[in-house]
Amino acid sequence: MASAPETVYDRMPNDLSAFWMPFTANRQFKAAPRLLVEAKDMHYTTQDGRKVLDGTAGLWCVNAGHCREPIVRAVQEQVARMEYAPPFQMGHPAPFELAARLARMAPGDLDHVFFTNSGSESVDTALKIALAYHRMKGEGQRTRLIGRSRGYHGVGFGGISVGGMSPNRKFYGGMLGGVDHLPHTHSLQNMAFSRGQPEWGAHLADELEEIVALHDASTIAAVIVEPVAGSAGVLVPPKGYLERLRAICDKHGLLLIFDEVITGFGRLGTSFAGDRFGVVPDLMTTAKGLTNATVPMGAVFCRKFIHDAFMQGDNTHAVELTHGYTYSAHPLAAAAGLATLDVYQEEGLFERAAELEPYWQDALHSLDDAGPVVDVRNFGIMGAVQFDPRKDSPGTRGYDIFTKCYEKGVLVRYTADILAMSPPLIVSKGQIDQIVDTLAESIKEAA
Ligand SMILES: Cc1ncc(COP(=O)(O)O)c(C=O)c1O
Repeated sequence: MASAPETVYDRMPNDLSAFWMPFTANRQFKAAPRLLVEAKDMHYTTQDGRKVLDGTAGLWCVNAGHCREPIVRAVQEQVARMEYAPPFQMGHPAPFELAARLARMAPGDLDHVFFTNSGSESVDTALKIALAYHRMKGEGQRTRLIGRSRGYHGVGFGGISVGGMSPNRKFYGGMLGGVDHLPHTHSLQNMAFSRGQPEWGAHLADELEEIVALHDASTIAAVIVEPVAGSAGVLVPPKGYLERLRAICDKHGLLLIFDEVITGFGRLGTSFAGDRFGVVPDLMTTAKGLTNATVPMGAVFCRKFIHDAFMQGDNTHAVELTHGYTYSAHPLAAAAGLATLDVYQEEGLFERAAELEPYWQDALHSLDDAGPVVDVRNFGIMGAVQFDPRKDSPGTRGYDIFTKCYEKGVLVRYTADILAMSPPLIVSKGQIDQIVDTLAESIKEAA
């Protein structure tokens, strides 16, 4: 019998130079590449045939585990039936059904859903809807946007403008004008080794009052925050902080946007962070777990009053929101989204995450005293370990521990001297132990 033809997955590519890799130290990576060729449930397989436990759900996105059969099948069936349909002035059934299901899942009256292809596009879409909303209401002077230091909202010009990570901003010129930032909510001094939400720090929300006092509420459109900041290294909001932000926004007529690209779809043991914290934003951005990352898709959820503000007037010929993408509501993404929601629901994965959270918390905090660890933080099935940077070479300690974990068969997420963990919600207690034991060993070896 003839053997299967060799594919690109069976051999090391001859040339690594043409692919300019995103958010990667290209020269470092290409000198010692880490290539993944297969994935199933909790594991990746590397090109040299090793199994690696996925401690990061890909990039915080594969919440139901890898290559889940019902999702794969739904995408295969859809691609064979209709691979594409234009979303402008035309439609197909699946995204209507998906949007209706999402609206039923969402907290409060976040009843309307605009589809995008990524978290970055969701953020730029939400910012544009916020600006256009105020204009529809006759308050077009409300153009200022408020983000937060250490926030990550993707890489579009809107997202980096409201984002608060200087390496992602400093190279790219003036960005959007009229943006201000809240202070971030992390303090080693006041909250290191907190289990869940820190007690200290709700007062940091009052900085929004200062920003309002400086610019006047009549110039401000919206405030955007991640309910739990993910990319900056799992910064958990202090108790009462998000509630205070909500109250200040209400007082001054500012729209509150929660960027739930990471926290959505079960990561915190609830459908969305808004459910977990009991705070309903006016707009909510999502992506990642929406399709279990099988096909790229994002979604912006809007409260009813925002959507309704666009649906006014007698001219029903007019396009109400002049915004959208060629691939908005792509048939493959919509099929993946519907099948993903089925898996989440049938397997009770969000409830499972909630049940696992105490075990996850205890396991991570067993690292509190490990060598150069200066903080361990956790919330939902997210967690981070922060290290004291090596003198003269910040970031290298985190990188060494990350590569040691990978060599020992566990994938964690490296951002300088912070390692973040967010395994798929199907993770077992034994696999949580494996993640933490591997980290402990690697920390010792790299100290
Ligand atoms: C909170 C948040 N917003 C936006 C994004 C950007 O998403 P994408 O990479 O899909 O554009 C991310 C990505 O990690 C994120 O964590």
